[in-house]
Amino acid sequence: MVEFPPLRNDLLLRAARGEKTERAPVWIMRQAGRYLPEFRALRADHEFFEICRTPELATEITLQPIRRYSGLIDASIIFSDILVIPQAMGMEVLMNPGPSFPDPLNIPADVSKLRQNVDVEKELGYVFKAITQTRIGLKGEVPLIGFCGAPWTLFAYMIEGGGSKTFTKAKTWLFKYPEESKALLLQIADVCVDFLVGQVKAGAQLLQVFDSWAGELSPLDFSLFSLPTLKHISKSVREKLSNQSIPEIPMTLFAKGANYALGELAKDSGYDVLGLDWCIEPSVARKIVDGKVALQGNMDPNVLYGGREAIESAVKRMCEKFKDGNGEVGAWIANLGHGITPGVNPEDVRWFFECIHKYSAR
Ligand code: CP3
Repeated sequence: MVEFPPLRNDLLLRAARGEKTERAPVWIMRQAGRYLPEFRALRADHEFFEICRTPELATEITLQPIRRYSGLIDASIIFSDILVIPQAMGMEVLMNPGPSFPDPLNIPADVSKLRQNVDVEKELGYVFKAITQTRIGLKGEVPLIGFCGAPWTLFAYMIEGGGSKTFTKAKTWLFKYPEESKALLLQIADVCVDFLVGQVKAGAQLLQVFDSWAGELSPLDFSLFSLPTLKHISKSVREKLSNQSIPEIPMTLFAKGANYALGELAKDSGYDVLGLDWCIEPSVARKIVDGKVALQGNMDPNVLYGGREAIESAVKRMCEKFKDGNGEVGAWIANLGHGITPGVNPEDVRWFFECIHKYSAR
């Protein structure tokens, strides 16, 4: 492994391990994205997946919010996309402007068209290179988060061929071909494992798994189709790191909309941090997880369109609800409840960060 500059801000890692912190660490999902003019400028000249596949460009974009919000932001997340895994499995994915798959999986026999035993070094080595270059470029300012999509969310994209409101095609698979579905979900999970291990080897200091469509499943179907693969990922990543004598790192699961499963996820899913969307009160989530895991989230991203007063009062309230009985924060990573959207004013994002610093402090 490469020697990296020493980390100067470990708030994120301490909170992820469940420790009390002097204030809440803060970052935002999709922090390197279209709301930033510097991102749009670079994006004007390059196709989305071309940026993902070019380590210099991915590094530059990852660093953009870190530069702009230096001293206010406590984590970076590698610029990439969850859909690089379906690509590594042999599927074509376009971004125009949302994701679209020209040749989605229609029936279980189509699984044979996928690449078996994916060599992640060969197919996704460009992400590993970007991670290593970013760690060097960060000069230890903040930790770097690696990520992947969760099997159920990736399965849904691979079958729907893009976003969906009803998930009819993906759910047809679950209910008509449950065994074939489980096999494909595990096949995806195995690629996730190797991809995440490779990201740690390349320099990622925390891993986040995005199950963006978890909330589309009933509690029973989540426990049948998603949860087993999420547990497989956390367990296998830890085993593989330990077998290669690589130090453990914290793992976050963001299962959007799956607040019904919080108790179960806190008990034994193998994740250190659970991401929350805005549909649950922080104090309620705290009670459910009962100190077993740290929490991340959870302001509605659309509050960022409400102006400074609205942002300040939402942040103040969120901080109060995440603090313990002694007015202290710990085991909490401040964030939005989902990714930031393109129309937000970057100065309002600065204000969000400033308010988190002010109201989460001891
Ligand atoms: O958070 C970050 O800054 C890191 C980079 C990142 C992107 N996508 C960059 C991106 C991360 C972590 C993702 C994850 C991702 N991608 C998820 C899970 C998180 C979530 O929001 O639920 C999902 C579902 C995707 C799939 C995806 N990629 C969609 C649906 C879209 C189009 C719509 C949208 O939200 O922009 C993308 C494109 C995408 N991924 C963009 C960025 C910056 C915008 C693309 C562009 O520049 O045209």
